[in-house]
Parts: sequence; structure tokens; C-alpha cells
Amino acid sequence: MKKSYVGVIGVEVMGRNLALNMESRGYQVSVFNRTGEKTKVFMEGDAKGKNIVGTYELKEFVDSLESPKRVMLMVKEGKPVDEFIEKLLQFLKKGDLIIDGGNSFFKDTIRRNTYLNEKGVMFIGTGVSGGEEGALKGPAIMPGGQKEAYLLVEKLFKDICAKAYDGEACVDYIGPDGAGHFVKTTHNGIEYGDMQLIGEVVWFFKNALQMTGEEIAEVLKKWNAKDDILRSYLIEIAADSMKEKRHGTNDFLVDKVADITRMKGTGTWTVGSALELLVPVPTIAASIFAREMSQDKDLRLEVSKVLKFPKKDFSKEKKELIEIAHDALYIAKISSYAQGMALLQAASKKYDFKLNYGKIAKGWREGCIIRAQFLDDITKEYEKNPELPNLLMAPKFAKFVNENITKLTRFIEVAHQAAVPALAMTGAFNYILQLASPIMISAQVSALQRDFFGAHGYFIVGGPKNPEIEKNKEGKMREFHTEWMLPGRPEREITK
Ligand code: 6PG
Repeated sequence: MKKSYVGVIGVEVMGRNLALNMESRGYQVSVFNRTGEKTKVFMEGDAKGKNIVGTYELKEFVDSLESPKRVMLMVKEGKPVDEFIEKLLQFLKKGDLIIDGGNSFFKDTIRRNTYLNEKGVMFIGTGVSGGEEGALKGPAIMPGGQKEAYLLVEKLFKDICAKAYDGEACVDYIGPDGAGHFVKTTHNGIEYGDMQLIGEVVWFFKNALQMTGEEIAEVLKKWNAKDDILRSYLIEIAADSMKEKRHGTNDFLVDKVADITRMKGTGTWTVGSALELLVPVPTIAASIFAREMSQDKDLRLEVSKVLKFPKKDFSKEKKELIEIAHDALYIAKISSYAQGMALLQAASKKYDFKLNYGKIAKGWREGCIIRAQFLDDITKEYEKNPELPNLLMAPKFAKFVNENITKLTRFIEVAHQAAVPALAMTGAFNYILQLASPIMISAQVSALQRDFFGAHGYFIVGGPKNPEIEKNKEGKMREFHTEWMLPGRPEREITK
């Protein structure tokens, strides 16, 4: 029997759809699942009559593949990935390839890469974004691992992935070992941020402007029009779902759905990495905190009986405030993506991922959940200047932010007066304010407090008009301590 080009382990929806996608592009695919029953259902259902080989033993699965063997794991991240790797090692040979296409933690991917490298088996940890539809019709793919390993699947990935409007494939080699999964995790953090920002706008529309679901859907639909700067998949599906009636009833689903956002956790990894790498990501963090708060339903119900605030009605200014919300959302998005990109920069430095930010943005233009017109603009800004210190410095975005920042101020002000929380919006706004502050006075105060209570030292700047930090002849920042407890409070330079 003809051997398969690739094998997929795991026939849950993502694995199943990826296998179907591969088959539809002319590849013979073998499939295996821990519980054979699911393979059987798949083989007798969607895979029936297709060039897909169902296997029921792991050896049979591996034997059914041509060499070098390409095995794609589409199983739950964590232990199942390690378990399958161990089992596969019994049958794989040097030069064969394992691809982990789940949402794995990048440090696990680095560990697995080292482990498999020692055994001569190649390994790719790849982000696959786009949900079930993406997996079937064309996801965005973010592969990390050895370059030679990537070359074994480059053609396959290029064939099955999404294509942007200019025909470019939404896949590119991201970098070594954990790079692909780090980029996917960051994608998900940005996704959380986008979703939270859109959610805050809808809350604003409903409670500050008293808009109905249908009206909101109309506005969001306009924001998703061709050439609108906000045009994106998440705006599109938000618009779509806003006007949805609960099946079999006359109620809007958005009024009936419980206010609880669960999460599998990739966004928390993004924020965890940001904490570890000392990169501020307030919008992304706000989106996690908002999801956490949403899950505290009982407590919120209790507290809402005790704490009550005035809720000003702004519906008379509806038209103007809708326009303000549009530009406020765009600025917040720029800020949020700037945070995500800054995280990628820091990770690239720390883990030597050698990331190419323009290419990453390019690969996110189609297929993935955050796909948007905006990503094409980001791509172009990085193409013009690959060394951009921060996305907010890209001329196109800096200009928009400078000209429209007061709209974000207004949005936040109105939201708060209407008692609408705007955690992510505020995080985005304050990120910009802090980033654009040559002197962060709050940090000056904290530096003094630390030196006062703990003798932790401080650096010196030239003064309010000269924000540069004083350096010694070797170019090191000069450090000082005030003897707060001594009479006259003398200052001494710390030289160690
Ligand atoms: C994607 C999605 C995908 C998945 C998330 C949802 O890129 O296709 O991000 O990975 O939908 O895991 O994440 P939460 O359950 O954490 O919201």
C-alpha cells in the first residue's frame, strides 16, 4: 500500500480538520487517536472516501508513513504530548520528524527540542491558529525548531495554510526550538486583548449610549467595512453575534449569555512571560484580569447589592461618541500590539529566537484569530524599519496617536462616568502615556521610598529639563544613597 506523506495523531476537531485540509491539497494522510473509537467515527464519517488512512496501533501508524516520517501531534498540551513523544520514540528513526501543533508552553517545547535532538529525531513546535474553520480551510502556522526540520514540512505547510490578499502564505519559519510556540502564545495574548477591548466598547455602547444589540451590530459591521482601519475577524464575528437571537426564542443571545469568560490559559502564559522578561503588557494583563473577574460571578452579585454608582447617560451624544469609540479602539489596538511586539523583542533577545517582527505580522494577516487589515500596516512599518524600538514609534501609528489621543481620553472618561469599566482601554492609554514620559515621576517617588526604607540606592538625572541619567566615565549609571537617618542626611555614591 502507498505510504502516507504525513500522519496526524489526535482526531479531535483541530486534528481532524487539519487532516482533511492536508488531504484536500493532495496529500495522503494517516491518522491515529488514543481511543480507536474516535478514529473509526472519523473514518466512517468525514474521512470516508478520502485519501486518509485510519490506523489503530501506533506501530501501524508509523509504518504507514513514508520516510523521513512526519508525525503531527494534535493532542492536548502538557502530559499527552510527552507521552506520545515517548511512545513514538520506539518506532521513529534518526531524521524523522515530530511536529507538536498544539498550544504548548514554549519552555516545554525548548525542553522537548533538546531531548529529541539528543536522540537525532527532529522536532517542530508550531502554533496553528484559526480555530476549527482555519484548520480545515487554511490556518496561520507559526513553526519553530531546526531549520532542516522546517524544510521537511515547508511545502506541506505552505499548501495548507491561509493566503493573504497578495497571495503570500501565512506561514514562515519563526526561529529555533520554542520560538514558534512563544509567538503563538503572544498571538493568543494579543487575541485576549483584542477581545477585551471590543467587549469594553460594546459595554460602552450598551450602558453609556443605551444602544440595542442590533444597533451595535450595525456599527461594528461598518467598522468591518473594506478599508476601515478596524477591519478584522474579531470585529466581524462580534458584529455577527450581536444580532443573533437565542435559538428558538426572540431574545438576543448577547443578553442571555452568562457573563463568564473561561480560558485554557495561553494568555496567562503571555503575561507570565512578560513578568519574567520585565515587559509591561497592561492591556493583555487587563484582559486576563477581566476574565478572572468574570468568573467571580457570585461575589459580583453580592457586591453589586452593596456598592452602587451613578451611571450617567450619554445617549444624546451617541453619534459623536460612536466615532470617538472607533478611533479610541484603534489607538488601544496599536498600544496593545506594541506591547505584544515588545514582548516578542524581549523574548527574542533572551532566548536567541532571532525573530523577524515584520514576517510575524505578515503571517498573521490571514488565517489566525487576530487577522486584520491592521496587520498589513504593521508589516509595512516593520518592512520600512525592522529595528523599530517600539511599534508606537512607527510614523503611521505615531501620527494617528498624536492626532487622536484625546478620543481615547474621552472614551475612558465617558465610560467611567457611565460606570462602565474600561480596564484594557485604560491599560492601553496609560501604556502610551508612560512610554512617552521622559520622566516617570511615580518611579522617582518609589526610588526615593526604596532608598529611604531599604537603602536600595537611586540613580540621578540632570533635572526636569534634562531627563538623561548621569553616567560615569565607563558609561555606567552613577548610583547614590542618602543616609536618611543621619543628621544632615548626607548623600554618598555607591561604587561597587
Ligand atoms: C487560535 C486560538 C486557539 C484557541 C484558544 C482559546 O489561535 O486559533 O487562539 O488557540 O481558541 O486556545 O483560548 P482560551 O481558551 O484561552 O480563550
